[in-house]
Amino acid sequence: MLVYLNGEFTSRDKAAISVNDRGFLFGDGIYEVIRVVNGRMFRLEAHLLRMDRGLKGLEIPFSASQRKELVSVMEKLVVENKLQKGEGTIYLQITRGAALPRTHAYPSSDTPPTVMLMASPFVPDTDILEKGGHAITVPDIRWSRCDLKTINLLPNVMAAQEEKKRSAGGVLMVRDGYITEGYKNNVFAVFDGTLWTYPDSPYILSGITRDVVFEIAKEKGVPVKLTPISEKEIRKADEVMLTGTITDIQPVVSIDGRRIGVGRPGPIAKMLQKGLRHRMDTE
Ligand SMILES: Cc1ncc(COP(=O)(O)O)c(C=O)c1O
Repeated sequence: MLVYLNGEFTSRDKAAISVNDRGFLFGDGIYEVIRVVNGRMFRLEAHLLRMDRGLKGLEIPFSASQRKELVSVMEKLVVENKLQKGEGTIYLQITRGAALPRTHAYPSSDTPPTVMLMASPFVPDTDILEKGGHAITVPDIRWSRCDLKTINLLPNVMAAQEEKKRSAGGVLMVRDGYITEGYKNNVFAVFDGTLWTYPDSPYILSGITRDVVFEIAKEKGVPVKLTPISEKEIRKADEVMLTGTITDIQPVVSIDGRRIGVGRPGPIAKMLQKGLRHRMDTE
């Protein structure tokens, strides 16, 4: 598998970064995951805009020409890794680069960022998409800039491990009694035909898939309410679902062992799945 690292294409096992890299030392960087469907990068510009916001938020210098180059790198990775047919993902990571001495504050602004991209085949979990998942709740122990897609993912990693340990299918994170999001997806619930989800805030990452859900809901006349949903309230929802680039739209059929709605994927989740699939296949 061919990856891109700092201006060069190299095999995945040969690519290496400096031990002084601030991504390695401090988690000082951002990332994006982009879905590739039949060689096309789904909602690429939206991902790049979120990347821009992250770089700006962390004050990582990145020029317009560096940004432009990313697109041709992605195109090459798609071809070289044979993703012109079927499903894949592109992973992009930019860190503040390698700098000495190891000091917390940002190094000089002429420190070149470390830029790494890789492309991999992807197999959607069709079983959970069809049948829905049995989700669990965990405390949201993350910081208060979750709107930045940084590579500091330890709380997310721990949430995923809890999901694995408990053989669950989905995790809802709870902050101050309210469901914020999943560790790699946003959360929606349906109450009386209205879709509820956490509003844009520093406590969530506003997903690109979340925006697609808003679009489909508007097209189909489903009202959307941007509001935090309490842990108590969500148990009474007619439907619950998780949305994300590698999650697609995954129905949640139970939370902490208690059934949601009729205990099967509901009509709104199915309608949204269809709308997302259509967009991914045709855009
Ligand atoms: C914490 C978190 N929330 C939400 C999402 C969903 O975002 P997107 O739909 O852009 O993949 C992700 C994606 O990785 C995530 O890590």
